[in-house]
Amino acid sequence: MSLTFRPLSHALGAEIQGVDLGKPLSNSEFDQIHSKFLESGILLFRNQKITREQHIAFSRRFGELDRHDSLPRDRHPDYPELLLVTNIPEKDGKESASKYTGQQWHSDMSFTLEPSLGSLLRGITIPPVGGDTMFTNMYMAYDTLSDGMKKMIEPLHGVHTGRRKVTDRDTEREREQTRINPPIAQPLVRVHPETGRKALYIGEKVSSLVGMTEEESKPIIDYLVRHATRPQFVYRHQWRQDDILLWDNRCTMHIALGDYAEGEIRHLERTTVKGTPSGYYLQ
Ligand code: OGA
Ligand code: MN
Repeated sequence: MSLTFRPLSHALGAEIQGVDLGKPLSNSEFDQIHSKFLESGILLFRNQKITREQHIAFSRRFGELDRHDSLPRDRHPDYPELLLVTNIPEKDGKESASKYTGQQWHSDMSFTLEPSLGSLLRGITIPPVGGDTMFTNMYMAYDTLSDGMKKMIEPLHGVHTGRRKVTDRDTEREREQTRINPPIAQPLVRVHPETGRKALYIGEKVSSLVGMTEEESKPIIDYLVRHATRPQFVYRHQWRQDDILLWDNRCTMHIALGDYAEGEIRHLERTTVKGTPSGYYLQ
């Protein structure tokens, strides 16, 4: 099978054509996919009519999968390797725990001691209009800072939490998140373990910088997030059913826009590949 690649944007991303993820991949096919992944930060596979088992099996090629102990409410009851990103209400009619998943700039599992290497999200039911996800290239974000700013942030750590910005919607969930995932300090600059390149590591879940007050930290965090999400660093994904989108959490950030009509169903399922240890608990 010959694979072809098409860039998704100037900043990041590539679509791969000529592959059926429902079939086992040869090592040479996987190596091509893997090197394109490191180069592009995001890979898109369209028209993948695959089962949950096949989604999990393909994801395992990239490394050990997270069983989502840090997000117990959102995982699939029968497949702990699958995280539900859905607005379909619970059986008892309650709002889905994952309705607002990802609606702030973030990198997956940054609030744990082993932030994710990469995530593979499968589009299952997509609203007719919208429900897009935006991604940004954190190598570019780092590289385009001034030398002065690079030097200033090099030794700094951000405090990451599993809490969402919108805290008034499900306070029990937020309390549980704080209990399971105490605040964790992560470096603002991380060296990608496979490419050796430096990437900015920040997000809207970063509440402060270690050793500084919230008031002091906020302008720096806000600036870095604003800088990292400049339109020229961003790719905006418009989902189609049967898309598999893979992203590298070590050098990209993403946000779910929530730009779709109330009443439309949006249902996706994600596997999460474990990454290398990073950060430390503050307490
Ligand atoms: C995620 C996530 C974004 C979206 O699955 O990690 O942030 O658009 N999802 O659903
Ligand atoms: Mn996410």
